[in-house]
Amino acid sequence: MVIAIDGPAGSGKSTVSKMLAEKFNFTYINSGNMYRAFTLSCIRKQIPVTDSEGVRAHVKMVRLDYQGNALYLDGENVTDLLHTDEIDRHVSILSSIVQVRQRINDLIRAIAQNTNVVVEGRDMTTVLFPDAEYRFYLDASLEARALRRFEQGISNESLEEIRRSIAGRDSFDQKNVEGSLKIVPGVCILDTSLLTIQEVYDTLVDKIQQKGPIYGRGGSGNG
Ligand code: DC
Repeated sequence: MVIAIDGPAGSGKSTVSKMLAEKFNFTYINSGNMYRAFTLSCIRKQIPVTDSEGVRAHVKMVRLDYQGNALYLDGENVTDLLHTDEIDRHVSILSSIVQVRQRINDLIRAIAQNTNVVVEGRDMTTVLFPDAEYRFYLDASLEARALRRFEQGISNESLEEIRRSIAGRDSFDQKNVEGSLKIVPGVCILDTSLLTIQEVYDTLVDKIQQKGPIYGRGGSGNG
């Protein structure tokens, strides 16, 4: 079973996806982090992300694995190294390389074949899992999204710089990445601008249970 969560940076999708995975005892996959891990690997090897040939050749050799909520790059847990300003600046370009997308999509499909997943990222309800049992698109105003990133305190940029960088990435991805940030029929849309994470989570759990209950750790059933 697949719960697919789409939406732009700062819409709350990562936090809520993790909470849903925990509640239903599903595997959590953050596809954005996979693009970020490949970007980190290219930066470390000094391969410019604009060198698409070099990037393609390099990512073929790199191993990515999910273990629990942690992402391993060639055996190293890199989960906490992926949200830097430097990776933010380069990841959109790397993620526009078709072969990189294919590699990541194949990895995600392989995981989802063997286990129930909550999978998040900006083409999950369109390209990867258009037939998923549960599909959500979390949206929020640019201002709300920039403020959330700013308040996370991870970036060294000002609020205005973060706002510009998110807007730039969204616009690049919309033009260059297949299926990215598109809202398709049948997807449940939620504007999270004025909601707390708990409210977003509660709304999604309600919608999932209305559609057809899943019995996980926090559920009331026996599965
Ligand atoms: O969701 P995020 O901000 O961590 O994503 C980082 C970048 O990765 C974003 O610029 C677009 C790209 N991405 C993508 O192209 N497809 C996905 N499924 C997830 C992320």
